[in-house]
This record gives sequence, C-alpha cells and structure tokens, in this order.
Amino acid sequence: MANCTTNKIVVMISGNGTNLQALIDCQDKYLYSIALVISNVADAYGLKRAEKAGISSLIIDHRHFENRLLFEEKIIQTIDEINPKLIVLAGFMRIISPEMASHFIGRIINIHPSLLPKYKGLNTYKRVLENNEKEHGSTVHFVNANLDGGPIIMQTKVVIEKNDTIATLKERVQKKEHKILPLSVHWFLSNKVKMVDNKTVLSGNVLDSHPLSSSKV
Ligand code: GRF
Repeated sequence: MANCTTNKIVVMISGNGTNLQALIDCQDKYLYSIALVISNVADAYGLKRAEKAGISSLIIDHRHFENRLLFEEKIIQTIDEINPKLIVLAGFMRIISPEMASHFIGRIINIHPSLLPKYKGLNTYKRVLENNEKEHGSTVHFVNANLDGGPIIMQTKVVIEKNDTIATLKERVQKKEHKILPLSVHWFLSNKVKMVDNKTVLSGNVLDSHPLSSSKV
C-alpha cells in the first residue's frame, strides 16, 4: 500500500468504481495516497474496492439530508478535517453546488465521459451513438460552478466503430479513463498543472481554447 502521507487525496464515487480502482493501483507509481473514499450510495461496488485495498471509506447518503446544503456541509466538513491536496470526483453522480465548487476551487477535479465541451450531462454514450458521431472520449477537468464546464486538464479520444454499442464504446473509453485520471492526479500533485483565473495552466502555459488532446494515452 502507498505510504505517501503528504500527497493525500480524497476520492468521491457513486458506483462501480473502476476509476477508483485505477487510482488505487497507481498510488505507488505516482506517490499519492487515498486518505478517504466517500460514496453517496451505500452499496456502491467502489466501497468494496476501497475495503480490499485497506482504504477508509465513508457513506454520506444524500437521501439522509433535508437538502443539498446540509448534504454538502457534511461532505465539506469531512474533507476539511482531512485537508487533502486534491479531491477527485470519480463517477460521483450528484451535482456539486457552486458553493461547494467554490469552497474547493482549484483542488477538485472530475472525469466526464465525453469530449467536453460536447455532451455535458448524462447518457453521453447513448447520445453520441444516436447522433452518429465519429469519435467519443473522456475529459478530466477542474470543477467550477458550471456543470461539466470547468477548465480542461486532459482528454482522451476513441474512434466510434460501425457496430459499436453503448457497452462496447464504454469499455474502450473507460480503459483510457483509467490512464488519464491517475495521470491528471499526478500532474496536479507534481505542480505540472493548476487552475489559475478559471483556466488550466500546464507547465506554465495557459491552455486556452486548445485542450490537451491526449490521444497517445
Ligand atoms: C466514468 O465513466 C466517468 O467518466 C463518469 O462516471 C463513470 C464512473 O465509472 N463520471 P466507474 O464508477 O469509475 O467505473
């Protein structure tokens, strides 16, 4: 298990947790440690992955709170006690309020299954296939007040094949997600990438309208 106590991260999930698994597996390689996994879903399989890896986890079920404010207050309080360098939304299926985004601004990232700014929101695989798109992919971005609209850190693309279904396309995209998410975490923790004035700065250069398209990954 990773022994890097300074580069602590918190990962938030809602489901299967394959991206969490990729983050678990890269702890030693990229010198960070997952201090806590938070899930808003009690039976999320990702919680089992955390347990197997000996990582602490906490269920914060949104349904147990009167409103989003109280739900997020609990999350914020929990994370602030840990004081991680980075918060990673890895399949966390609740909308983050502008207040929570602003509380963690510059140190909270998300992975979204589309080539943002295209296909924000849900059901991206279904929508790209219905629209006969030629390519699809995934994006790691900083979280700000705009849903799936924060500055982009890294993207990965796949070509859509004629016989692709949601399942086959998702499988190929997720395989690549499992590389770009840990790599983005590594870039952030090694100060290669940061968010300044609502823009991504990579190795000192502002990434304007040209997000890094990491087709090699
Ligand atoms: C990922 O595909 C990610 O892009 C999206 O939610 C999915 C989570 O999958 N935000 P998993 O739980 O990591 O397997």
